[in-house]
Amino acid sequence: MNKEPLDSLNDIDAHYPVPRVYDFLSRPQNCEFLDYVFKDPFGCHVFPGDISSYPLDSFLNDMEREIKQAKQIHLWSYIPTCRYRCYFCDFPTVILNPQTEAAQTMFRDVVDCNITEARMWLESIPSLGQVEIGEFNIFGGTPSLLPEQELRRLVDFYQSHFNFSAASMRFEGEPGTLTKNYLRLLKKLGFSKISFGVQSFNDHIIKASGRMHSARACIETIYDAREIGFNWISVDLIYGLLDQNVDDVKRDVEKIIELGLSHVVCTKLHMDEFMRKRTGVSGERKSLWQKGKFFDDKRRFPGLGKQYQMRELVEKYLSSDYLEHPTMYFHQKHQRPEKWKGLVTDLGKQYPEVAIGLGGSSKCTRAEAINITGYGRYKEALDNHRLPIDESQGISLLRREVNAFKMATSTLVPVNDGVFRRRFEGRSFFDNSIINRALKTLVDKALVTVDGDVVTLTPNGVTLVEAVINTQFGP
Ligand SMILES: C[S@@+](CC[C@H](N)C(=O)[O-])C[C@H]1O[C@@H](n2cnc3c(N)ncnc32)[C@H](O)[C@@H]1O
Ligand code: SF4
Repeated sequence: MNKEPLDSLNDIDAHYPVPRVYDFLSRPQNCEFLDYVFKDPFGCHVFPGDISSYPLDSFLNDMEREIKQAKQIHLWSYIPTCRYRCYFCDFPTVILNPQTEAAQTMFRDVVDCNITEARMWLESIPSLGQVEIGEFNIFGGTPSLLPEQELRRLVDFYQSHFNFSAASMRFEGEPGTLTKNYLRLLKKLGFSKISFGVQSFNDHIIKASGRMHSARACIETIYDAREIGFNWISVDLIYGLLDQNVDDVKRDVEKIIELGLSHVVCTKLHMDEFMRKRTGVSGERKSLWQKGKFFDDKRRFPGLGKQYQMRELVEKYLSSDYLEHPTMYFHQKHQRPEKWKGLVTDLGKQYPEVAIGLGGSSKCTRAEAINITGYGRYKEALDNHRLPIDESQGISLLRREVNAFKMATSTLVPVNDGVFRRRFEGRSFFDNSIINRALKTLVDKALVTVDGDVVTLTPNGVTLVEAVINTQFGP
């Protein structure tokens, strides 16, 4: 067994219980799982295909066919501008100073590009203009930097060119820019859900991550949003950050409960390049921490042992008021889970999603594609009247079933073969050689149980679900 991953697993805070998954991960026969979590890629966002160099026309035809059949789809519009670059963030971003004239030109340009690209999608996929949008999500980057005029222009375009009759609207911001006035504007424009990054409620850790807002600003944003009438507010927390200890995460979760937030996303800090594994979307540049900047020998990242103590503490503390669905996304028990995630991953749905903008990732069950992630190349494609897609992959029938199973597993909801058979013309997931083999191993390792038609993750399976779906089902 590799020494480095084991040393990291042995980095444990003596004041907290040894994590439940410690025994499992420390056994030599489970080194595949330990190596995976040690390498640390984002693991639950993109479900790659298995047919490379898939022609763009075939991807578009597949999308047309499935969008026509879907009850609803999920639609993204990605705005890449940010006013600073967090040290952990590897998303495709364009950094600017919003006070400058040049920034105003850039905001116009970003919205122009987004609309131009959206028009191309509408021309390439005729049913896209008719299908019900289940959830529309403006995400980033920091869309809350967009001046009112540009935001209105963007929203007007989407509302008048897509079918918003059943759509809920969700907006992702950054606490320093989600002012009361901006929140009022969002409400007026029809947004009912907002989300933003907090990462930690400890100012020292926020600063050590390169962010330029305080914990107080996050709390004020929550109060302001409530006063204006938002009762669906989601914040992002990260565990495993520089200088963070288990106590810090305990205080973060206590704060979430005290604030009674409807939704919270709690992610482990990922440092691997997501794009390399095609399990997430990242920009052309590495994050500053990936480059080794802004930390040194005296300032440490918690090892795997502490990370799992943090993860298990989050599970335990949130379990009385919250449910986790899908992995990392917690919602208060009396609230609904994330609608967009459900549309895309719940076994009975798994409808297509279209992501417009830099680095957008779009898919249906037969094919998927990722947009260009560098702004220069992205604009060049648009200037040449080309959809800015970098790579599209097809998905064989065998892999389609595997991806459906993996996505369903990532929701943490038991996977039901009856629902699966309705989706796949009577084929059972036990008939799929890859799923069947994986299930045997996972049962042996006590990561899932199989009871008749239903596969359920055990507590260790829930904690390790990213490793489960990314190591056991082939490339
Ligand atoms: C792309 S950001 C958009 C939110 C907004 N720009 C903000 O920062 O407030 C969405 C979330 O992704 C998460 N994220 C970004 N990079 C990450 C990483 N390397 N590991 C784990 N989570 C990450 C952060 O929690 C962040 O809030
Ligand atoms: S975390 Fe948010 S604010 Fe920070 S660089 Fe990434 S997108 Fe921008």
